[in-house]
Amino acid sequence: MKEIKGLIFDLDGVIVDTAKYHFLAWKKLAQNLRIPFTESDNERLKGVSRLRSFEIILEIGGLTMSEEEKEKCCTEKNNLYLEYIYQLKSDEILPGVRKFLSDAREKGYKIALGSGSRNAKLILEKLEITDLFDVIADGTIISQAKPDPEIFIKGAKLLELPAESCIVFEDAAAGIEGAHAAGMYAVGIGTAENLPKAEIILPGLKGITIKDIINKLQIHIKE
Ligand code: G6P
Ligand code: MG
Repeated sequence: MKEIKGLIFDLDGVIVDTAKYHFLAWKKLAQNLRIPFTESDNERLKGVSRLRSFEIILEIGGLTMSEEEKEKCCTEKNNLYLEYIYQLKSDEILPGVRKFLSDAREKGYKIALGSGSRNAKLILEKLEITDLFDVIADGTIISQAKPDPEIFIKGAKLLELPAESCIVFEDAAAGIEGAHAAGMYAVGIGTAENLPKAEIILPGLKGITIKDIINKLQIHIKE
């Protein structure tokens, strides 16, 4: 195993539970369009781009729209979503994340955000953790959404590290796939059922240190 020097973090579902706000915003939009939309439907949108998420909702409702109309609805959804994000409090950071990041940084690891969200910078600001990241790769600098590896490749590039010396922290299967396509190991935040391909699976980062992750990875590789 190459020496790990960089850590790339997804945002939604790894650092903060914004899925509930995405859900509330999509639900309002879906209601206006008279499309039934449940929390279990929302699971399908995790890690999926804004436009693709809307296309899935349209599929659920059996509706079709022009590209222009879709764009308009996505903007509307984002405005609804931002109403929640403006209210986001710094204590909504998921348990253990702040400690994990600051400990890893102290130990000399470089840290990148690797999120497909175009609201990522605002969310980091709201959580008051912008300064824990060396670089930010977000939805504003990519042309291909996960499972494409573009976001992780850009993250490693911004960190000035080769892909093989980075590991990715992800809660979505599409993100794990993207990490592997980028040539990186992936830590899945979730369950083995949802993320069967991740090298390591954890329910969250509470009580975990970067040393634990590296040890687990070494054991996994030897097996
Ligand atoms: C992440 C989330 C998705 C979201 C996407 C785009 O991948 O998991 O649910 O659709 O980002 O986010 P944005 O904030 O730009 O709409
Ligand atoms: Mg995510």
